[in-house]
Amino acid sequence: MLFDVHAHYDDEKFDDDRGALLAEMPSGGVGHIINVGCDIESSEKSIELAEKYPFIYAAVGFHPSEAEKMKDSDFDTLGKMAENEKVVAIGEIGLEYHYTKETAEIQKKRFFEQIELAKAVNLPFQVHDREATGDCLEILKSAKPGDRRGMMHCFSGSKETAREILRLGMKISVGGTLTFKNNVKTVEVVKYVPLEEIMLETDAPYLAPVPYRGKRNSSLYMIETARKIAEIKGLDLDEVIAVTEKTAMEFYNIKD
Ligand code: NI
Repeated sequence: MLFDVHAHYDDEKFDDDRGALLAEMPSGGVGHIINVGCDIESSEKSIELAEKYPFIYAAVGFHPSEAEKMKDSDFDTLGKMAENEKVVAIGEIGLEYHYTKETAEIQKKRFFEQIELAKAVNLPFQVHDREATGDCLEILKSAKPGDRRGMMHCFSGSKETAREILRLGMKISVGGTLTFKNNVKTVEVVKYVPLEEIMLETDAPYLAPVPYRGKRNSSLYMIETARKIAEIKGLDLDEVIAVTEKTAMEFYNIKD
């Protein structure tokens, strides 16, 4: 079944029909979802969703655009959250220079510290990189995550960056942007990266794949991204679904 490694069902865009939509997931072919936090409040909401739905897991952490609001005491809070058995990652962490470049210095500090946190609590981490690849790679290299490896969420970089990421022992997560017309760069990346290094995500409610582009995204649409990968790599859709699911189960240490 499909494994959506990055979604935000705590978002207010789901307030009207969250329960009904999530109830459809298992019959819609979606086996697992990781709901990802952006600050303390959304991390708590992610855990609430994970405790309510057996197929939902949580990632906890501070998004780079929220890095300025992060307090030193939040590390203790995140560390305690990470003890919950349904918390499977630290995230989303990283650098966002498109919208919040003015806080770059504090973003870099909190990014590095949250990789340290991931190592301390023995969990993988999810990285957001927007227009910050140079600094992002520098921090990933200096943080030496070792076995507690990271995943690049909604990877939008070049083939050369993908090569660097794989060299760091990290995985690449592909979102709906792969299906966008003229996205030659990500098609090249998918051609180059072995299927075993790829995971699938929606970033719901954002970035819905074609033919749903512009609409509110959901894990039910992720099949379109899987279909595109199958087409690019000349594989069966079933194989893409099965291999990406297996990779995610192992990476996030989920047994059921
Ligand atoms: Ni996200």
